[in-house]
Amino acid sequence: MTFAGDVARAVAVLEGGGLVGLPTETVYGLAADASNAAAVAKIFAAKGRPGDHPLIVHLDDAAQMDDWAIDIPPVARRLAAAFWPGPLTLILKRAAHVLNAVTGGQESVGLRVPSDPLAHAVLAAFAQARAGRPTGLAAPSANKFGRVSPTTAQHVREEFGDAVDLLLDGGQSVMGIESTIVDCTADPARILRPGAITREQVAAVLEQPVSAALTDAATPRVSGSLEAHYAPRTPTCLIATEDLADALKRHADKRVALLAFEGGPPAQRKITASPQAQAYAYALYASLRELDAAGCDLLLVEKPPAGAAWDAVNDRLRRAAFGSGE
Ligand code: TXA
Ligand code: MG
Repeated sequence: MTFAGDVARAVAVLEGGGLVGLPTETVYGLAADASNAAAVAKIFAAKGRPGDHPLIVHLDDAAQMDDWAIDIPPVARRLAAAFWPGPLTLILKRAAHVLNAVTGGQESVGLRVPSDPLAHAVLAAFAQARAGRPTGLAAPSANKFGRVSPTTAQHVREEFGDAVDLLLDGGQSVMGIESTIVDCTADPARILRPGAITREQVAAVLEQPVSAALTDAATPRVSGSLEAHYAPRTPTCLIATEDLADALKRHADKRVALLAFEGGPPAQRKITASPQAQAYAYALYASLRELDAAGCDLLLVEKPPAGAAWDAVNDRLRRAAFGSGE
């Protein structure tokens, strides 16, 4: 299938209210026409996602922000100019036509312009087909609710099989971790989910420190903010470097899969992680999926360093390990 052929088929599926597995630079998305309530409902059904969890609307171009949001503050324009196309999601006041299914019934909407060339081409062609009407693709990460996000087309195939009408293969997602979500309805703007763009990068553009506000647990505005999320099936524990050898001894009677930095103790199944945060993030979900599939009793992950560059990785690992105990 050619690039142009992929794009044409994707537009046909989207216009028909179907689901497309779509590569983005962060993770693969499960995309549907954001203006079609029945199509959006299919996303929730396929993912097994609760209805009050809002979806991000993906746009072809920053100029389309005004089709989906109102009262857009200058900080949002600055962030869009600095990071779009790219791995940043802006939470803005919704336009009246945005479906409740997309916003989770909230007064805000999440918008993002992805940089992946295939995603961009599909969005541009879809916009052209819709001839001037607001155009967007609602797309959560293409994983079952609470599970590890997909960074390859194969991951999406394993997760959804035929539930997806068309799966586009754009190779491995170049960032490997979800977009950073900045709530621009708050003043000052704050980070709701750490992601591929660091807090320091956001702060540099806004010329002020930015807080990472954890959202109110009672209202799951960000499903990724639920404690247990991004979770392998194998019980997963985060272990400090100095405790790693002991932990392996303690679990000597079990089959242990290990994600650790170079130089640590051996394990039945081990993946060596990069000491560089961006390279670590790139490989993280594929590594968790591979170790999860190894059929071990326990998955141990060596704790990465603290610090802003590691915020997103540490956030996902903490949630992947939540509830497993140690
Ligand atoms: O990188 C990404 O953001 C990927 C790719 C596919 O674009 N998408 C993604 O979607 O991670 P999802 O649905 O797995 O996570 C999006 C998060 C959810 O936790 C959702 O609650 C939050 O964005 N979100 C969406 N709209 C929101 C809104 N109006 N207010 C607050 N949070 C919102
Ligand atoms: Mg997700």
